[in-house]
Amino acid sequence: MSEAARVSNPPDSLDARWDALLKRIVVEPDTHARWLNTLALMEHIGSRKMMKALDSETLDEVMLRHVAEETRHAYIFKRLSQRVAPGLCPTFAEPNLFEGEAARAYFQGLDRGVHDWVRENVEPERQALVSYLSVTQLIEQRASQIYPRYEAILQQAGQGLSLRPVIAEEARHLAEMDEAFERIGFHWRRCEKPLSNREAPLFEAWTGRLEDALFA
Ligand SMILES: [Fe+2]
Ligand SMILES: [Fe+2]
Repeated sequence: MSEAARVSNPPDSLDARWDALLKRIVVEPDTHARWLNTLALMEHIGSRKMMKALDSETLDEVMLRHVAEETRHAYIFKRLSQRVAPGLCPTFAEPNLFEGEAARAYFQGLDRGVHDWVRENVEPERQALVSYLSVTQLIEQRASQIYPRYEAILQQAGQGLSLRPVIAEEARHLAEMDEAFERIGFHWRRCEKPLSNREAPLFEAWTGRLEDALFA
């Protein structure tokens, strides 16, 4: 490994920790099926939140496509789960998930943390929209960090599974979020730090729970 690579990716970096988690998950079919089903649940929760947050008065083609794609991502992860272990995870009931409670806690904590920050920092008439966009943006950023690493590990594992269609759409969603912030005149870059600071400990807690479940 080059010096530059070592500095940018120390052994205990979040990326390296997720590589270790995912490498372990993909070699245990039952765990892997539950994990894929948990990601299906996360995509499903995301699409449900979007549907609730979006106002039909302002809902346009781009937003509708985004919701449709998140719903489809839930289906894609469910299909992958079924391919890994047919019939093991028919629903999102707790026994069909891998550390499902930790995944839900991440999403709920993020929602609460962002709403609290927005309530104190954004004018009332824009709070609902800014909250929705900010939660979505933070999750899209995590998806863009983790899914490509997961894809690389899946390809190394040679099981014929791929997240490529999901990754391409998540990348476009990030670009669309930038445009949406611009449209409503909200300076995401200026607010990114305090909002990311609320997300980071929640993601760390989720990561830790997965490590405890797999390595403790
Ligand atoms: Fe998605
Ligand atoms: Fe997305």
